Amino acid sequence: MGIFNVELKKVVDDSYKIEIGFHLEDTLINDLKNGLVGNISKFALITDSIVENLYAKDILERLKKEGYTADLFVFEAGEKQKTRQTKEMIEDAMLERGYRRDCCIIAIGGGVVTDLAGFLAGTFGRGVPFINYATTLLAAADASVGGKTAVDTPLATNLIGLFNQPKKVYLDIATWQTLPARQIYSGLAETIKHACISSKELFEFLENNMDAILSIDKNACEHIANENCKIKYQVVMKDELESGLREILNLGHTVGRAIETVSDYQLLHGEALSIGLVAEVRLATDLGYMTKEEADKVVVLLSKANLPITIPEYIDKEQLVKKLYTDKKVKNGRLRFVVQKGIGDVVEFEEGVFATPIDEDVARQIIMSI
Ligand code: GLY
Repeated sequence: MGIFNVELKKVVDDSYKIEIGFHLEDTLINDLKNGLVGNISKFALITDSIVENLYAKDILERLKKEGYTADLFVFEAGEKQKTRQTKEMIEDAMLERGYRRDCCIIAIGGGVVTDLAGFLAGTFGRGVPFINYATTLLAAADASVGGKTAVDTPLATNLIGLFNQPKKVYLDIATWQTLPARQIYSGLAETIKHACISSKELFEFLENNMDAILSIDKNACEHIANENCKIKYQVVMKDELESGLREILNLGHTVGRAIETVSDYQLLHGEALSIGLVAEVRLATDLGYMTKEEADKVVVLLSKANLPITIPEYIDKEQLVKKLYTDKKVKNGRLRFVVQKGIGDVVEFEEGVFATPIDEDVARQIIMSI
């Protein structure tokens, strides 16, 4: 009999760069040549059926031209595919093609691709490095930055996953040119959320420049890409694992994630978030943290971005109330909400506590009124 101490204290440096620009394919290749992932020479490119032909095949060819071994692993586009089954299908395909621990994964696409590929990278061969090449505004604003990776389950979104930081993130704004308008609107919801939680200036910029953004004006898009990143990584650097502050990035997501699932993904993530943000401003107004004028400004901005501000008729609102309990912020069986304070701030309820318990009836009332 004996007791052994297995000492495994670690100091981890997961720092990485986010590069924002236009047409970053060459930059990616040069970074790899300059040792971004050491001497790895084998790359699994994970993408979806839309991005495959737009950007991923091109990056594949560039890698091969440089003498790297590279293969494309493609799954059908859409949130409905962000599942354990898709992850398994890609894992098996990678193993079949001889990929082992000596590879690096490059996720090329939007949030569905970067979430799934980042999770896969965290478990493949007990963990291989990965890089995000984000091709949507939503991925640039939120999903590809911050190291949250996950897949959805039938119960709700993002319940199975890892915190897993990429080696580098490329936000290629040129790719937004090929995005369907609905995807631009969807990405703007995360941008509006960032403004709501932390930047009155960004909020005003969005109010004054929405037309330019919607027509993918270069300067306006570069500005929002930079602002989104700054807001997000400053939060993530202080609370990577969401033990407190990072919960503020969840503004609008309590109702948003629930409605996304209840809609069976008919609503895009940003569309669902938009409705969630409307619920949140109602709550903040009822709790006395926002004036009605401030709440109206948020709703007007969401509609300016062509986002939905009411719950679609086909949603069963009682089912939606029940679905709120799948939220990761639920504690001791109680719903908890982040609450916006004015425009550009959130309520800190106690030191380091940014979400507060809300009675189901209060949540129900708000949902019934939207
Ligand atoms: N999407 C919220 C977060 O990254 O924490």
